Amino acid sequence: MTVELYTKGASVWVPDPEAVWASACLLQDLRPGDGHLLLRLGDGREVQYPVSPPSGLPPLGNPDILEGENDLTALSFLHEPAVLHNLRVRFLDYSSIYTYCGIVLVAINPYEPLPIYGEEVIDAYSGQDTADLEPHIFSVAEEAYRTMIREQKNQSIIISGESGSGKTVSAKFTMRYFAAVGGASQQTSVEERVLASNPIMEAIGNAKTTRNDNSSRFGKYIEIGFGRHGDIIGANMRTYLLEKSRVVFQAPEERNYHIFYQLCAGRELPEMRALKLDAAEQFRYTSQGGEASIPGTDDTADLERTRSALTVLGVGSDQQMELFTAEDRSLAVFSKLLGVERAQMAHWLCHRRLAVGAELLVKPMSGRQAGEARDALAKSVYGQLFGWIVRRLNTALRAQRERPRSVIGVLDIYGFETFDRNSFEQFCINYANEKLQQQFNLVSPMGLFVACISWSPPREGGPPGAAAVQCSSWSIALIEGPLGLLVCPGVQGED
Ligand SMILES: Nc1ncnc2c1ncn2[C@@H]1O[C@H](COP(=O)(O)OP(=O)(O)O)[C@@H](O)[C@H]1O
Ligand SMILES: [Mg+2]
Repeated sequence: MTVELYTKGASVWVPDPEAVWASACLLQDLRPGDGHLLLRLGDGREVQYPVSPPSGLPPLGNPDILEGENDLTALSFLHEPAVLHNLRVRFLDYSSIYTYCGIVLVAINPYEPLPIYGEEVIDAYSGQDTADLEPHIFSVAEEAYRTMIREQKNQSIIISGESGSGKTVSAKFTMRYFAAVGGASQQTSVEERVLASNPIMEAIGNAKTTRNDNSSRFGKYIEIGFGRHGDIIGANMRTYLLEKSRVVFQAPEERNYHIFYQLCAGRELPEMRALKLDAAEQFRYTSQGGEASIPGTDDTADLERTRSALTVLGVGSDQQMELFTAEDRSLAVFSKLLGVERAQMAHWLCHRRLAVGAELLVKPMSGRQAGEARDALAKSVYGQLFGWIVRRLNTALRAQRERPRSVIGVLDIYGFETFDRNSFEQFCINYANEKLQQQFNLVSPMGLFVACISWSPPREGGPPGAAAVQCSSWSIALIEGPLGLLVCPGVQGED
């Protein structure tokens, strides 16, 4: 901080218990040796604010003329209060959820549908120099598309942010943009198929959490392949770290993956009768969260959406029924659906085989152990099924006519959640996110970033508070470093 800038009339930011930061005005120049600044706060109060120059000074406010700038890097002073203030002004006064910070697009979750994603907006961004346009998710998509065409180079868009901040919605808008600008002139269904992968992945990989009714419980990287003329010719998707703990357990107000509720809701449909399903409230794996339905969500209609998306992707109704048979209540139905002999299934759910030297012992398990074995089986079956569907979708999305000239990759990272007690799963997610971020920084400096943020708390309608943006290369060092968590003495291989 330059001490000379602390003159009468300058504005500074001071910590505030409610607003996080509050603006204040200097009533006197800061003189050498001063231990206080004389400030006037927003409510008119005059205070002596203790300081210890040269470093212990409050951050300076930006000139008024820069208020609401659409690129944070244009600010004279770039620090936390300046960033938050500028985002807040843009959001509240300009109704603008997007702001640039250099090559990063900052997106604030509006938590309400906005009329800014229509065809006419796509047209307005398409083919334009993005430097002249207001920040938008479409400007990022356009930048990636243009650079790919101009330089014949692969591009990537990394969408980061905590759970519920708007990553998946942003990823879908980029895909919609590419489908619109990369749609070939002749009738083709490739774009349609790429877009149809979204409802399917959401049905099997998204669940209601306390923060987000449609929270993705996996990380997804989709590469959209373009042909010589910049038209979409195929896609390939990779997923990672599917969360399986919610398959067998849900905390209050959470749900299992949507697909289970969709199937239960559709149980009376003639073709679904064979599954012998009951209401979601009747199953242990779908009822632990308490509330089986989400206000504003119609599981029956969503089942239709999932099924027609599967049809678009060429998964016939026979195969659809095959994959819907993975979950059921009673052992008889369960075994029949899985095609396993019932007695065998009962036996191995309650016993385990131990190898002691050359001998094999069969030992009964306690009720708790058997419960854990059942849960482990359910998680494993679900994981296999998820993998099968992703492979099936990739077959349907593969480019047919030619190999893609270049690709644009869209990474919808696995959004971090912070619980009172964070499990090993959370640790793995955050670690994977940090590594991915690092990888993209190193390998692909051409990558474009979208940082999604939600004002916290998102649900309670309170005033916008501090935004949670996580950024920590030090955490990788903490985990991997010479004395890091993963190499600490005693922790080996499979631990
Ligand atoms: N651009 C947007 N416009 C309107 N609503 C949005 C937008 N982005 C996010 N939302 C709302 O926030 C919810 C959570 O967003 P989502 O993308 O699923 O979060 P994430 O993938 O980061 O966990 C969405 O279901 C939607 O209601
Ligand atoms: Mg998501």
